[in-house]
Amino acid sequence: MALHPNLSPAATLLGTWTGAGRGEYPTITSFEYTEELKFTDVGKPFLVYSQRTWSPEGAPLHMESGFVRIPAEGAVEMTLAQPTGQTELAEGRLRLDDDVLEFDLIARIMNSASAKHVQVTRRRYTVRGDTLEVDFSMAAVGQPLVHHLASALRRG
Ligand code: HEM
Repeated sequence: MALHPNLSPAATLLGTWTGAGRGEYPTITSFEYTEELKFTDVGKPFLVYSQRTWSPEGAPLHMESGFVRIPAEGAVEMTLAQPTGQTELAEGRLRLDDDVLEFDLIARIMNSASAKHVQVTRRRYTVRGDTLEVDFSMAAVGQPLVHHLASALRRG
C-alpha cells in the first residue's frame, strides 16, 4: 500500500519508537518514565498516532491517541484525545532539512468539567535518523506555558 503523497515528508516517523523520558512541572514532583510511540499508515491521508508510558516500576502512566494530518506543504496538524479529560487540536509547522524532520505544534484545548484545566500545549518532535526527540510544554492549572516532558526514543 503506497503512502498518501501528502504524508511523504513524514514517512520517517512510521513505526514504533521506544525510550526514556523525564517529566517536571512547577506544581508536581519530577518523575521518570518509559515511552512507546506508534505512527501507523492505514492507507488514508493521515497517520494513526498512539502513545503509552510507564513508571520505572512498570506501572501505566499517561497515554494518548489521535491522528497526524499534513494538509499543505510545511504544515502539520494533530487531533488528540486525552484520558485526563482533554481533547487537543494541535496545528503548526513541519520542517524537513538535511533528513532532519521537525514538527512544532501549538494546541487549542477543550477540557471536560472534571479535568484539571489545561489552556495551551506545545509539542515538538524531532527525528534524526533512528532517534526521535519529544518535547512538551503546557499552560495548565494556573501556570504559564512551561516545560512538562522530554523524551529521547529509538526506532524499533
Ligand atoms: C508522557 C506523557 C505524560 C506523562 C508520563 C505524564 C505524567 C504526569 C505525572 C506523573 C503527573 C503528576 C501526578 C499526577 O497528577 O498524575 C502529571 C501531572 C499533570 N499532567 Fe502530565 N503526563 C504526561 C502528559 C501530559 C499531557 C499530554 C498533558 C496535557 C494535555 C498533561 C497534563 C498534566 C496536568 C494538568 C497535570 C497536573 C498538574 C497539577 O496537578 O498541578 N500531562 N503528569
